[in-house]
Amino acid sequence: MSSRVVLVTGAARGLGAVIAARFHAAGYCVALGDIAIEAANVVARELSAAGSSAFALKLDVTSKQDFVDARDAIVARWGRIDALVNNAGASKVVPVMDITAEQFDQVIDVNLRSVLFGCQVFGRHFANQREGRIVNIASLAGQNGGSATGAHYAAAKGGAITLTKVFARDLAASGVTVNAISPGPLDLPIVHESVPAEKLAAVIANIPAGRLGAADYIADAAVLLASGNAYFANGACWDINGGLYMR
Ligand SMILES: NC(=O)c1ccc[n+]([C@@H]2O[C@H](COP(=O)([O-])OP(=O)(O)OC[C@H]3O[C@@H](n4cnc5c(N)ncnc54)[C@H](O)[C@@H]3O)[C@@H](O)[C@H]2O)c1
Repeated sequence: MSSRVVLVTGAARGLGAVIAARFHAAGYCVALGDIAIEAANVVARELSAAGSSAFALKLDVTSKQDFVDARDAIVARWGRIDALVNNAGASKVVPVMDITAEQFDQVIDVNLRSVLFGCQVFGRHFANQREGRIVNIASLAGQNGGSATGAHYAAAKGGAITLTKVFARDLAASGVTVNAISPGPLDLPIVHESVPAEKLAAVIANIPAGRLGAADYIADAAVLLASGNAYFANGACWDINGGLYMR
């Protein structure tokens, strides 16, 4: 197997599906991890009907064992793994004063425990092979508290940026890099589904670029950070938000 190999979590739809497609177009073999296995299978088959260069696997990112099983399944199939993109995420907007313990734990689990477990399992594997790339998909909400996302989500994404730096430092001497990408609001189904049209228009009006971000561009950034040449980018948080962070 000479192609590089990547695992993208949350790849059944949205940004993860776009990232998976971009890696595939760049010549990678792509494993698509998601709890929505049927939808992930559809995306994988669109990339590689026979499964030779893309396949879906059931992965719940809140489970460390699932990351271990995913790593083993990928190595068994393709004999190697070069990069992990921790993309899976979810939120439900609840006013900060009303967030229950259960809601808080759920959102922290999917958006933050996932990064901890992914970086632990794949970081160790990459350190052993003295090479590897981890890209964590954070969010502008993790830097500015967010407005249409939920405080628990914003706190989790801020934590993901912090974990990125901690793992980057821990793994740097082993030839492994860990970086975050922090997107602003993207032109993706979840944004249109979850943000009321009036509120979305106000969000867009506040973006200096004057429009939502393209998922393709985030995916290109992930491919760049995952490349072998990107050894000097480490512990970084790449802000891609149309200038919204300046507001
Ligand atoms: N959409 C945006 O504007 C935006 C902006 C900034 C950051 N992000 C981040 O980008 C990432 C992708 O977001 P999206 O907009 O594509 O969301 P989405 O809801 O469309 O897709 C999320 C995917 O993650 C999967 N998923 C959810 N829980 C999971 C779990 N426990 N284990 C495995 N997979 C799980 C879902 O099945 C789905 O396929 C998230 O981390 C999100 O926080 C999105």
